[in-house]
Amino acid sequence: MAFLDKHKVIETNATLLLVLAFLVVTIGGLVEIVPLFYLKNTIEKVQGVRPYTPLELEGRNIYIREGCYVCHSQMIRPMRDEVERYGHYSLAAESMYDHPFQWGSKRTGPDLARVGGRYSDAWHVDHLTNPQSVVPESIMPKYGFLLNRMIEGEYIADTMKTNRFVGVPYTDDMLKSARADFAAQANPDADGVEALQRRYSKTNVRNFDGRPGISEMDALVAYLQVLGTMVDFSTFTPDASR
Ligand code: HEC
Repeated sequence: MAFLDKHKVIETNATLLLVLAFLVVTIGGLVEIVPLFYLKNTIEKVQGVRPYTPLELEGRNIYIREGCYVCHSQMIRPMRDEVERYGHYSLAAESMYDHPFQWGSKRTGPDLARVGGRYSDAWHVDHLTNPQSVVPESIMPKYGFLLNRMIEGEYIADTMKTNRFVGVPYTDDMLKSARADFAAQANPDADGVEALQRRYSKTNVRNFDGRPGISEMDALVAYLQVLGTMVDFSTFTPDASR
């Protein structure tokens, strides 16, 4: 066939093949990449998304330290089965203050992107202490020791500073009040609660583990309870103007 004969010319000439392959890859690459330069931004800003409070940020550190991401993803894909099970698909903006992001690549357990508010604090404490006590068939490890590890947040301002360095908009005021905010979030009677809620909108203030003092359990549950709750999806509409 004439067409294949012509193609033979390319296939039997290594230099020509290389040049043409390079051209094809270049054009393909440009078509994919150039439109991105014309987007105003790649992450659409969404109302409600705020940086983590000091206590939530500490909880996030514990989540990473304990390797929860090995079994849990935090990204709901825009497919019907996902959305029906977990809720609205994840928006890029919802993890814009996550360094590093916790999207995960494996689901031994369920996705946690919208677990906030789904269970009570007491349920989380029971479940983390002994998962089989509430979900008998669970293979999740026990994390009861977190209840006995007391924390004061002495390094939390440093963690916030590091996050600010990579773009999280913590203000000087937030850094200065980091330890006071840290303590106030787990103690509804504290003087600092109002100031905390002024700095961070819609913050849960509770004694998360139900015990005196602030434990790693308090921090972890505070983190779990805010996951996926910052955006109000009853009023959210995707920005289609871009
Ligand atoms: C070895 C894998 C594994 C690890 C590690 C793990 N989990 Fe799980 N997790 C599971 C499985 C399986 C389930 C489902 C059964 C259950 O609810 O216990 C689950 C369920 C959960 C749920 C309930 C989710 C829902 O929607 O019902 C939460 C919350 C949770 N895990 C948090 C954590 C946290 C926090 C950590 C780290 C401290 C962690 N998990 C570590 C396997 C794991």
